Amino acid sequence: MKAMGALLMSLALLGCSAVSPFSVDYDQVEVPIAQLSSDEARARGRALFKAKCALCHGDRADGNGVRSKGLSGKPVNFGSSEWRSNTTAIAVFEVLSEGERGTSMPAWPTLSDGQKWDLVAYVLSIAEDGP
Ligand code: HEC
Repeated sequence: MKAMGALLMSLALLGCSAVSPFSVDYDQVEVPIAQLSSDEARARGRALFKAKCALCHGDRADGNGVRSKGLSGKPVNFGSSEWRSNTTAIAVFEVLSEGERGTSMPAWPTLSDGQKWDLVAYVLSIAEDGP
């Protein structure tokens, strides 16, 4: 039983949300407020974004990545103040953790929580600071 618990635990830690019987209650996840407004975190997030997200979301984060045409679902313009005012840090964190079911937006189990928050910090800053 103990081994089983450890196995399930490590699946949960690996972020295998599809297999794990545990699902994260995102309302309970603590938002690292200071990280979100940190220039360093935003810069790290920007570098990650260029490497992993720009293909679909665009180098300028406007939704026009080179692969954006054939996708299921349309990447939004992260520079839009309307999008910005209708989302939250935790909503972006959840999308990164779980993906968007039924669309081309994948989950990112290989990213650490710290990296995901760096990406959240960057993505949310675009409407204010530009890409
Ligand atoms: C394979 C293409 C692809 C990649 C790579 C990708 N995305 Fe997405 N993403 C999408 C699509 C398509 C949507 C729109 C899904 C929908 O229709 O709701 C989306 C949606 C999102 C949303 C939700 C926006 C909203 O509607 O509020 C966020 C946030 C996001 N992506 C961030 C990222 C980040 C950060 C990365 C890099 C770690 C990334 N995405 C990588 C295709 C991609």
